[in-house]
Amino acid sequence: MSMSQSSPRINSQNKPFLSTIDGHVSKKPPIWLMRQAGRYLPEYRAIRSQSKSFLDFCYTPALATEATLQPIRRFGFDAAILFSDILVVPDAFGQKVSFEVGEGPRLDPLTTPGAIEALGEFSLAHLEPVFETIDRVKGALPSETAFIGFCGAPWTVASYMIAGQGTPDQAPARLFAYRHPAAFQLLIDKLVDASIIYLSRQFDAGVEVVQIFDSWAGVLPAAEFERWCLEPVAKIISGLRARNANARIIAFPRGAATHIPSFALRAGADAIGLDTAVDPHWAAQSIPPNVVLQGHLDPLALISGGAAQNDAVREILSAYRDRPHIFNLGHGILPQTPIEHVEALIQQIRSSEV
Ligand code: CP3
Repeated sequence: MSMSQSSPRINSQNKPFLSTIDGHVSKKPPIWLMRQAGRYLPEYRAIRSQSKSFLDFCYTPALATEATLQPIRRFGFDAAILFSDILVVPDAFGQKVSFEVGEGPRLDPLTTPGAIEALGEFSLAHLEPVFETIDRVKGALPSETAFIGFCGAPWTVASYMIAGQGTPDQAPARLFAYRHPAAFQLLIDKLVDASIIYLSRQFDAGVEVVQIFDSWAGVLPAAEFERWCLEPVAKIISGLRARNANARIIAFPRGAATHIPSFALRAGADAIGLDTAVDPHWAAQSIPPNVVLQGHLDPLALISGGAAQNDAVREILSAYRDRPHIFNLGHGILPQTPIEHVEALIQQIRSSEV
């Protein structure tokens, strides 16, 4: 929505990613991949083994900086994404977070309205190592590489805070929201306020773009989507723009399906991250033309490689050839992805034959 209309944004460093998010169509879209730092890289596994806990790793600036830079060195992506996790926010509210190997995140679940009222204050100071990481990365990136910060959207973060872990369908948070709407609204409002402060501070520390990950947007009926996904994300975006009119923002409402066009129109993000299941031809027709599209190769096509990967990439490139488009996956890259397939992907996109 905002796009460049109100914003004489300066792209003095000539970064293809920033030019695209500012609305320019290019023959070869800029590329980055969600979860581009991570376990599919041997160099990541090597440094990850230096910390026993994943959160300690995230809070050690030297290691988090190295993890952020590894995929840039290896592949030359057009953007780096800060190495951290969406669950540092509940951690900064004082809710204990840990990651069990092979099991994913564990939090002390918030099971009653009283537990939400009793939640501590959001501590920005607790996240100081994240800002230190941003400062270090900023000084180490190639001049053509953009730098993305992020947070989880309130609904997605709340779903982990209520359930205390990942669940297949976010049933605990959905039930809690039906049974205790006022308490759930209070939790969402706390997360909206914290996210505005947290992302503003990321911009101050040196990121150029932020992405808001609503990984579990796809499980909600229309009225709940409106209340728990669209409205909180729109509030974060308007809060950020009130502080910094030129803030560049990507929203990723994963699985939002038929809600996507109205989300794109109303949330106020510059770009919408699309997920694996979206038909690119439908998206190209249905999403307002002033919203930049990002995505959305199936991460499993990237594991498969070969013709399946090539054909899927060609389809996405041809659907978006007339629109500003940032190439990405439809969800995070998976640990079993072969590195040669990532190399082939980049080569295909950057070669002129498409
Ligand atoms: O490279 C990047 O994209 C930057 C770093 C990043 C991580 N997590 C690192 C990570 C980002 C942007 C995230 C976002 C995130 N974290 C999301 C939203 C995106 C999505 O994938 O839907 C969510 C839901 C989380 C919560 C989370 N963190 C889960 C469910 C897990 C366990 C599952 C898993 O993949 O292991 C994590 C752990 C995590 N976050 C890892 C990494 C590299 C793996 C842990 C390890 O290396 O030991």
